[in-house]
Amino acid sequence: MAVVTILSEDKTLTDIDEITATLANHGINYERWTPAHPIGDNTPPEEILNAYSREIEDLKQRGGYVTADVIDVSPMTPGLEEMLAKFNREHWHDEDEVRFIIAGHGLFHIHSSSGAVLAIEVEAGDLIRVPRGTLHWFNLCSDRRIRTIRLFQDTAGWTPHYTKSRVDENFLPVCFGSAHLSMAS
Ligand SMILES: [Fe+2]
Repeated sequence: MAVVTILSEDKTLTDIDEITATLANHGINYERWTPAHPIGDNTPPEEILNAYSREIEDLKQRGGYVTADVIDVSPMTPGLEEMLAKFNREHWHDEDEVRFIIAGHGLFHIHSSSGAVLAIEVEAGDLIRVPRGTLHWFNLCSDRRIRTIRLFQDTAGWTPHYTKSRVDENFLPVCFGSAHLSMAS
C-alpha cells in the first residue's frame, strides 16, 4: 500500500482510509485494485490489461480515457536517466497522469494548490490519478523499477510543462517503504 507524507506537517499516513481521504482533499484519486486472476511481475501486458479490465473500463468511463497500456521501467531501460530527468522536476500536464502499479516502486511529489507538498510512495496494487494541471514531480525508488498501467485521454497531452520553480530541490527523493515503517514502529 502507498505511504503518504505531508512534509510541512512532518506527518506520515499508512492507513488506507486516511490516505484516500487526505489525497482526495488535495484533488488526487487513490484506489487499491485486486486482479480478477493471479498475475506476476512479468505477466505479459495483454494478460495484465485483461486481469484489470473491469477497473480499467470503469476508470475510462469516469475519466474519459480512451486507451490503456503497460510500461516497464528498470535499470536495463535504455536512456533511463534521461527519461527520469524529464519527470523529476516540477511540472504539469494538459492530461491526467493515471498510473496503476504492477511491480516496483515510485515516488510522486504533489505540490497542492493549498501550498502543501505531499510525498506519495506507490507500490504494486496502488492506483493514483493526478489531474491535469496539478504540479508534481516523480522519482524512482532504490529498486529503480516500476511497471505500470497507464490510461490516456489523449497521448499528445502528456508533454511535461515545467514551472522552473526549483521547489523539487527542497525535497529529498527518498523512499522509505511500508516494510521499513513497520520495522521502525
Ligand atoms: Fe508527470
